[in-house]
Amino acid sequence: MGGLSKKSSLLKGLATSADILKLDAGTLFFDEKLTGQPRRLPQAIITASAMVDAYNLMGYDAIAIGRQDLSAGLHALQTLATRASFPFLSANLVDTNGSLLFTPFTLIERAGIRIALIGLTGQTNLPGAYSDTVKISPWQHVLPQIVAKISTKSDLVVILSNLSALENREIAEQMADVHLIFQSGVSKQNMRPQLINNTLISQAGHDGRYQGQLTVHWTASQKWQQGETSRLTLQKEYDRLGWMINRVRKKGGPQVVYKDNGANLNAFLKKRARYHELEAEIKKMAQDEKMNTPDPATYSNHFHPLLPSVKDDAAIIRLLKESRQRANKMRRQVAETKRLNGYIGSSACRSCHDPMYLAWSQTAHATSYKTLQDRDQNNNLNCVYCHVTGLDDSTAYLAPSMAGNLRAVGCEACHGPGKEHAANPNLAPPSMTPHPALCINCHTPQRDDNFNYMLDKAKIH
Ligand code: HEC
Ligand code: HEC
Ligand code: HEC
Ligand code: HEC
Repeated sequence: MGGLSKKSSLLKGLATSADILKLDAGTLFFDEKLTGQPRRLPQAIITASAMVDAYNLMGYDAIAIGRQDLSAGLHALQTLATRASFPFLSANLVDTNGSLLFTPFTLIERAGIRIALIGLTGQTNLPGAYSDTVKISPWQHVLPQIVAKISTKSDLVVILSNLSALENREIAEQMADVHLIFQSGVSKQNMRPQLINNTLISQAGHDGRYQGQLTVHWTASQKWQQGETSRLTLQKEYDRLGWMINRVRKKGGPQVVYKDNGANLNAFLKKRARYHELEAEIKKMAQDEKMNTPDPATYSNHFHPLLPSVKDDAAIIRLLKESRQRANKMRRQVAETKRLNGYIGSSACRSCHDPMYLAWSQTAHATSYKTLQDRDQNNNLNCVYCHVTGLDDSTAYLAPSMAGNLRAVGCEACHGPGKEHAANPNLAPPSMTPHPALCINCHTPQRDDNFNYMLDKAKIH
């Protein structure tokens, strides 16, 4: 978060900004530690919303979804996606019916080049709660079809990938039509771009201390200039083996030198086979370099450190400050909620809000404590704080002493302590405004894996 204001002014300062493409390969919003920590969720969602606002301001073109971005629940991520003015991409995140949950790819034109951006989410295990509702398809099942479909509509095919470095390599080796892979989350360190076949794999370290800039000169050949380095490495190995083979030959050949040692003879024969392989490979490379690509595409790479001396973007600073204020307000409201003596109980609201009371009393919230009683769990401190009004896991011990009419998810669980308001409605408004993060305090992904604020709030009264 801290680096965002510097990142923003750095991006503003980059030349030819009309031709710039602003991308992120994912794992921006949440981390895995959130899973199993419901108390951190509301705060994390407020922070993530501010990040989306900042990326909107910076004019991002697209980001990919990382597996960890699901740690606050699918719905939280979908809500963030609707807040963003750029797409959240994932071509392989699907529901249990195999239907896509997010935009798989997008086509953008920049500097006269038609660019296809595809998002891929990492395949490693999902945070526990989501594995039942969200699936990650292997890239092999989705990528070939998409690339076949879009290669005619685009000049440059780019993947924003959360997959492992190994999988990204496999894609590069197997899919000639993928030109560029930005990988995320593999290493904390910056890595120099790597060219594999005709795919460039690039990554900036993920601790937010650097802004990676890849400058691409893409040409009609759609072929990267092959680096000299790979041929030189092969040439070195070839020379070394050649020298050794020559020495054996001078001593009378392998049958003589290794006549009492079968194992060494075998090792030698293997090396000789490798020598011939290398010879062919180097010859082919040299030919390719000559024949291919009269006008190769080139790139240069730069990592800009987000040093303290980089100016802060005032608009982003303001945005982050507002977000902190929102989070503080939320914390104050929650702290307020904890003071049980401000509560009066749902029945006291009925005299003035009868229709709401009647509607609420038909819902599961009204019988949430009974649900625990029926299972003999009403004294279980691990359960009771979500099934009553005004407690959280740190105050659950107060449950046995609380008034009977607070033993439900009552009006005040969402509207805040209402004693003052009920006594003097025109002077004291209800103390809390319901907010999606409030519901998620109890409707954690673990307890309710398909919570949807817009749909579910219609069912509460
Ligand atoms: C003595 C009557 C009375 C009682 C009791 C009462 N309210 Fe109200 N409430 C009002 C009035 C009057 C308003 C303002 C109505 C309006 O502006 O439309 C109001 C407004 C509200 C609003 C809407 C605020 C808004 O911004 O639109 C909520 C929520 C609310 N009350 C919740 C409660 C809860 C929860 C309780 C029980 C703890 C409660 N009320 C008890 C009279 C009462
Ligand atoms: C204090 C914890 C708590 C808060 C806050 C809370 N809920 Fe609930 N909610 C529950 C519990 C517990 C149940 C299940 C009650 C039962 O079945 O006994 C539930 C059940 C529901 C149900 C019924 C689900 C069903 O399948 O029958 C809906 C809908 C719902 N909540 C929506 C919301 C919304 C929307 C919000 C926020 C505006 C919210 N809840 C806030 C604890 C909470
Ligand atoms: C973090 C808050 C939270 C805690 C802690 C919690 N619940 Fe719930 N519980 C909920 C919510 C939210 C729902 C509604 C889920 C839904 O709408 O699908 C619910 C629903 C239920 C239901 C009814 C739905 C069903 O699955 O049959 C039962 C029973 C239940 N909880 C029992 C328990 C027990 C027993 C414990 C303690 C071991 C517990 N709960 C702890 C939030 C919580
Ligand atoms: C689970 C959370 C939850 C519970 C429980 C709950 N409310 Fe609400 N209430 C909300 C939310 C969320 C809204 C705002 C709805 C919206 O945005 O459409 C709301 C809106 C209201 C309003 C304003 C309605 C309007 O149309 O302006 C009143 C009044 C109100 N609630 C009273 C009550 C009373 C009285 C109770 C108990 C009988 C109660 N609420 C229980 C979450 C809750």
